[in-house]
Amino acid sequence: MSSIIIALDGYSSCGKSTTAKLAAKQLGYAYIDTGAMYRAVTLHFLQNHVSITNPHEVGKALDNIHITFRRHPETKSNDTFLNGLNVETEIRKMYVSERVSEVSAVAEVRHAMVAQQQKMGKSKSIVMDGRDIGTVVFPEAELKIFMTADPMMRAQRRQAELLAKGEMVDLVEIVANLEKRDHIDTHREESPLRQAEDALLIDNTFMTVDEQVELVVRLADERI
Ligand code: C5P
Repeated sequence: MSSIIIALDGYSSCGKSTTAKLAAKQLGYAYIDTGAMYRAVTLHFLQNHVSITNPHEVGKALDNIHITFRRHPETKSNDTFLNGLNVETEIRKMYVSERVSEVSAVAEVRHAMVAQQQKMGKSKSIVMDGRDIGTVVFPEAELKIFMTADPMMRAQRRQAELLAKGEMVDLVEIVANLEKRDHIDTHREESPLRQAEDALLIDNTFMTVDEQVELVVRLADERI
């Protein structure tokens, strides 16, 4: 049995993280949410008033950012830590979502994150989700999936997710945020979001989470 890298890319809020997390669990693989890393960088930049148009400030800030993932002892979730502090709840809030794509488009930010992600996947047995995993981070990944779903379905799922965390956000605001992020993510110069040529397209609009996980695990099993 060999160990592989599973790259899961796609648009905002189309269920990548949920599927990736559960598939990783079934396969006994590690799961890395690269969106959480860009969100943590964004939070740090906002807290420290880092100007993304000032390369010196960006470089200095990146030198001071240390991102790790740790398993929460009670919820068993894989929480994101920024310089030793649990920022899992904070990075999911709307004010971070509003700025994350601008920060993620900065070349220096991408280079720093991609280097870390490549280190994390060195020994394989990993499921990584994001926007550029199959194209830039691991172009040699054995399984590449590109996920998509109907925009209104994505917005409703996102709204339910935020509500479950106690944040009530209007659907119109969520649709606008998803559209804005997708636009920036697909149009940026540095590693834009696009489907890798050898990625399998999954439209999960009418799929349950279980069906998606089952499909990813089956595709992985065929390659292990
Ligand atoms: O996955 P999530 O929606 O949490 O990602 C937040 C944002 O981080 C995306 O909208 C995108 O701008 C950025 N991102 C990225 N590259 C990745 C993962 C996320 O640019 N690999």
